[in-house]
Amino acid sequence: NRAWRGLIAEYRDRLPVTEATPVVTLLEGGTPLLPAQRISQLTGCEVYLKVEGANPTGSFKDRGMTVAISKAAEEGAKAVICASTGNTSASAAAYAVRAGMTCAVLVPKGKIAMGKLAQALVHGARLLQVDGNFDDCLELARKLAVDYPVALVNSVNKFRLQGQKTAAFEIVDALGDAPDVHCLPVGNAGNISAYWMGYTEYAADKVATKTPRMLGFQASGAAPFVKGEPVRSPQTIATAIRIGNPASWDLAIAARDESGGAISAVTDRQILAAYRLLAREEGVFVEPASAASVAGVLQAREQGLIEAGERVVCTVTGNGLKDPDWAISGAPAPITVKVDAHAAASALGLT
Ligand code: F0G
Repeated sequence: NRAWRGLIAEYRDRLPVTEATPVVTLLEGGTPLLPAQRISQLTGCEVYLKVEGANPTGSFKDRGMTVAISKAAEEGAKAVICASTGNTSASAAAYAVRAGMTCAVLVPKGKIAMGKLAQALVHGARLLQVDGNFDDCLELARKLAVDYPVALVNSVNKFRLQGQKTAAFEIVDALGDAPDVHCLPVGNAGNISAYWMGYTEYAADKVATKTPRMLGFQASGAAPFVKGEPVRSPQTIATAIRIGNPASWDLAIAARDESGGAISAVTDRQILAAYRLLAREEGVFVEPASAASVAGVLQAREQGLIEAGERVVCTVTGNGLKDPDWAISGAPAPITVKVDAHAAASALGLT
């Protein structure tokens, strides 16, 4: 038993790094694979949660960022840029600090959660709120990276997916083989593509005997894969996946089809119900977008896409503290009491 050394050190031989790559790390990865007791009971399956909110900046983006920023450093970059619904910008900002780089982020005005905005600002990123949605931000970031000396660290940067594929390695390493089914939220579609890369790589090298069916879930108001074409004005309370024109379109379709999986839609109402279920019955606080994977597993089980007894992993992608508004709204207002044991006991219903 030894201390976790971060992704690049743990999976060095499976990542595009050499002796010449300066490793920029916050010791990301090594996140819990938590048995989900209540969701297993509800579905009759063996369900696990891959708790990616336990990463250093609170989301799975750190896996991609350690590799992308390390490679940018190797190439001599002094500045990085990204478009983001919040988590990528939080991660890029933190890793840029670690690398001694400047970081610019483009976010859709008014549509990113407060905790994520705080992260980018506290790490000193140059933040622009764009009068547009995420798809507009990404188009802008791509243009700027072509015309100015800044490295683009969105998931169109191939090193991002290389880092993110390690989550699949960790799951196989923990379970001893791949699960039957893997569920995750889909936004810009990088993560589903990265997991599929990781699972197929392990299967090709006989580390795993099989690959899982990949089940991706989009919010119903932002579900271009379900519609079969980009959505011009995506809408969902799950701001992290409020994306209408996913960059990794072809890779995600390949992951879906080659794995025998599906990409479906869940409503905001289903997402919020799963969000509360995770918090109140599993003890896991995630941001709304993350709950799409759990809303999805419940729906897929009902629709017969998953059989009883199957082993299922759900990635919960981001920490609930990033977007506390949804936790507070809908909860009863706290009661104020005097410094008095009797008053406290009576307010708590103990008397
Ligand atoms: N869950 C969370 C919490 C996310 O932040 C994202 C994407 C996704 C799921 C979807 O992953 O894009 O790889 O399909 N967030 C990006 C961002 C877009 O800017 O932070 P995906």
